[in-house]
Amino acid sequence: MSSARDPVWLIVVAAGKGERLGAEEPKAFLDLCGHPVFAYGVEAACASGAVSRILVVADPALAWPATGRLTEASRRLLHGACRGGAQRHDSVREGLRVVRAAVRASKRAERDPVVLVHDAARPFAPPELFARMAFAAARGPALCVRLIADTVKEVEGDRVRRSVPRASLVLAQTPQGARLSLLERAHDAAPAEGVTDDAMLLESLGEPVAAVPGADMNFKITTPDDFRMAEAWVRAGGAPWMS
Ligand code: CTP
Ligand code: MG
Repeated sequence: MSSARDPVWLIVVAAGKGERLGAEEPKAFLDLCGHPVFAYGVEAACASGAVSRILVVADPALAWPATGRLTEASRRLLHGACRGGAQRHDSVREGLRVVRAAVRASKRAERDPVVLVHDAARPFAPPELFARMAFAAARGPALCVRLIADTVKEVEGDRVRRSVPRASLVLAQTPQGARLSLLERAHDAAPAEGVTDDAMLLESLGEPVAAVPGADMNFKITTPDDFRMAEAWVRAGGAPWMS
């Protein structure tokens, strides 16, 4: 069982190309109302008080200059940046390697810290969500979820096959987390294709994964419209921990 002083690592995956957004730069490093996109998650994690080390997975040539725009408090938690891989789960695996190396090198007794993984492209995970997820992941694998408001249909091409009862369906968000050793095992067993989050790998191991309430605005910036919505949300005061 963990104590409040257990180290909690945060891996921020920011090594995607942002092809669907179609900007010149990867979306994690685009300027969103005065801060790079990835900084929102880092600052929220720092403000939560629940995260002790932060690793950014992205080309260090991009990430290092951008970390200079973080607050001093966040920079103090920053372990560094490391290169990612071809797909999201390859990037997480690279991050886990760096965390493992740091844990081995550390003199602290804790050998199996909690690791949270967060998409840099989700700028609106609030500090209290990081706190909630650190608490949950210390007790077992966990992800945060959002209820579905729309009616759900299963289709084949442009034909509706059936309506799907949505009462037991949720949408997966990040942060997601578990103990380091379990995440490593899950990622070592990952198939080459079709992996879109960490929880599905933990589920494949037969691990029970807790579904924790997420945040309604914790959407992932994927398209240009998402980016415009994110700008509007920041201007409306939607990320108060950034000011
Ligand atoms: N990601 C990553 N390494 C990859 C792919 C994705 O670290 N090889 C990260 C992204 O930077 C993002 C998160 O995983 O923060 C979610 O991925 P996604 O929204 O798909 O981002 P991109 O892959 O950058 O976007 P696209 O698929 O449109 O290219
Ligand atoms: Mg992608």
